[in-house]
Amino acid sequence: MNKSISFYDTPSPPGLKGIWAWLLTHDHKRLGLMYMWAILFWFVLAMFLGLLLRFELMSQGRTIMGPEAYNSLFTLHGVIMIFLFVIPAIPAIFGNFFLPIQLGTDDVFFPRLNLFSWYLFMFGGLFALISLFSGRDFPIPAGRFMSPSVWRSIPMSV
Ligand code: HEM
Repeated sequence: MNKSISFYDTPSPPGLKGIWAWLLTHDHKRLGLMYMWAILFWFVLAMFLGLLLRFELMSQGRTIMGPEAYNSLFTLHGVIMIFLFVIPAIPAIFGNFFLPIQLGTDDVFFPRLNLFSWYLFMFGGLFALISLFSGRDFPIPAGRFMSPSVWRSIPMSV
C-alpha cells in the first residue's frame, strides 16, 4: 500500500541531513535539546561576564575595566542570567521535550512557530550582546539598547 508521509513522520523537511536537519527541524524533542544547548551557552557566557566583574572587584580602584564598562557588563550579566537562563530554562527545555509526550500528541500545536521562537531567542540574545559594541563610546560603555535618548546627557547609562 502506498502510504503518504505525514508532516510528523520526519523530524525535519525531507532530504535534509546533518546540521541543516537540526537547524530547520520542527520536532519538539530536537527543539528541546536545541534550547538546552542554547541556554547552556548563554549561561556560560554570563558566568564569564560575572567572573570579569569579580576580577574588577578583586582590588581597590581600577583593576581590569573602568566604571562605565563595569556597569555595562553588570547589566548584561544580569539580563542574560535572568532572561536567557533563569526564565526560559524549565519551560523551553522540559516543556518542549516532555509535554507533547505526556499529552500523547505528535508535536506542539505550531511546530514551525516553535522553531521560529528558537531563532528569536538566539537573535534576541545576540542583539543584547552586540549592544555592548554599539554605544557612543565604542567598544564597551553604554550599550545602545540600554540607552534611551533621555540618558544621553549623563556619562553613564545603565
Ligand atoms: C541565576 C542568575 C545568576 C547567576 C547564576 C549569577 C552568577 C554569578 C557569578 C558566578 C558571579 C561571579 C562570582 C562571584 O562574584 O563570586 C557573579 C557576579 C556578579 N553578578 Fe551575577 N549571577 C546571576 C544573576 C545576577 C543578576 C540578576 C545580577 C544583577 C542584575 C547580577 C550581578 C552580579 C554582579 C554585580 C556580580 C559581581 C559582584 C561580585 O563578584 O561580588 N547577577 N554572578
